[in-house]
Amino acid sequence: MTPSARQTPPVPLQRLLEGIAGVRVKPNEPLSRHVTMGVGGPAGLYLEIDTAEALSSAIAALEDAGMPWLILGGGSNTLFEDAGYHGAVVQLKKEFRAIAEGREPHTVRAGAAANFRAVMRFAVERNLTGLEFGVGIPGTLGGALAGNAGAGGEDICTLTRSVETLGEGGGARVLQRGEFSYSYRLSDLKQHVLLAATLELRPDSTEAIQRRVESHRAKRETQPLAEKSAGCMFKNPKGDAAGRLIDVAGLKGLRMGGVRVSEMHANFMVNDGAGTTHDIRRLMSFVREKVLAETGIELESEVRIITANSEYGL
Ligand code: EPU
Repeated sequence: MTPSARQTPPVPLQRLLEGIAGVRVKPNEPLSRHVTMGVGGPAGLYLEIDTAEALSSAIAALEDAGMPWLILGGGSNTLFEDAGYHGAVVQLKKEFRAIAEGREPHTVRAGAAANFRAVMRFAVERNLTGLEFGVGIPGTLGGALAGNAGAGGEDICTLTRSVETLGEGGGARVLQRGEFSYSYRLSDLKQHVLLAATLELRPDSTEAIQRRVESHRAKRETQPLAEKSAGCMFKNPKGDAAGRLIDVAGLKGLRMGGVRVSEMHANFMVNDGAGTTHDIRRLMSFVREKVLAETGIELESEVRIITANSEYGL
C-alpha cells in the first residue's frame, strides 16, 4: 500500500474556492464514486465546476496555493490509489455538458463533459454519420479526445474540426484541425484543459446509420458492460488484439482479491464490488508478465493510474 494521501486541505484555499460562483467543493470525497471501476480513496479536494470562467479562477487559486490538480472525465480510463490522491480532482458540469448543432453544416459542438454516447445519439438523431463507433464507449467527450477513443479503426480525433481549450490568462484558445496531433489511443490534446469541441460529420440515411449502430452494438455484446470495469485495460499491440493474447495465455477468470479478468472478454477486468486499486495493479502486472513470457509481446496500459502524491497538473 502507498502511504496515505489523506490530508486536510488548506482551509483558506477551500474557502477561496467555495467563494467562486460556479464552484462546489467537497473535501475527502471518495474517488471510487467517480471512476467506473469503483475503486480509489479520497481526493484532497473534489471540485465541481460549472463554467469556463469559474474553472479559470479555480485553477489560478489551486496553482497559487501549490496544490496539484487534474480534470477527471467520466472516470472510465483513470484510476486512483486506494490511499487516494492528495491534490484536487475537478469534474466539469453544467455549461460543459451542452450539446448543440455547430455553426457549419453537419457539425456538432459539445462541451468536454458531455457524455460521449449522448453526443453520438445527438448526431444519429440528425442523420449525421461518423460517431456510431461510440456505441457503448463510456466516458465524456473530453476524456475521449484526451485518449483518442475509438473502435475498429475509427477514432474521435479524426472527426474533430476544432477544439476549445483554456488559454493563458483564462480566455478560450481554439485549436483547429492540424494544430493538434494524435495516433492510436494517443493525443496531445491531453496537455490542454479542454472546454468543448466541434465535430465534423457527414449526412447519411437513417437506415444506413442504424445499420452501423447495430453492428457496433453487436460487437459490444461480447463485453461485460453490466459489470464494473474500465473498458479495455490494454491497448491493442500492432496487428494483434490484447484480448486475444490474454485469452490464449489462459488468463480468463483469473482473480486477485475482488478483481478478475472477465470470462466474457479477456481485455476487461471486472470488480465484484470488493476490489481495490491494489488488486487491479497486481492483476495487470501478472497479465503483462504472463503474456510477455508466452508471446514476447509487451502489453501497454490503456488506463492511467494516478499515484497518491502525483504532482499531476497541466
Ligand atoms: N478475442 C479473444 N478473446 C477475448 C477477446 C477477444 O480471442 O476474450 C479476440 C476476438 O475474437 C477478436 C480480437 O480478439 O479476434 C479482437 O477482439 P474484439 O473484436 O472484441 O475487439 P478488441 O480489439 O478487443 C476494440 C477496442 C474496444 C472496442 C472494440 C469494439 C481496443 C483496445 N479495444 O476491442 O474498445 O469496444 O474494439 O469493436 O482498441 C476500450 O477502448 O475501452 C474498448 C473497449
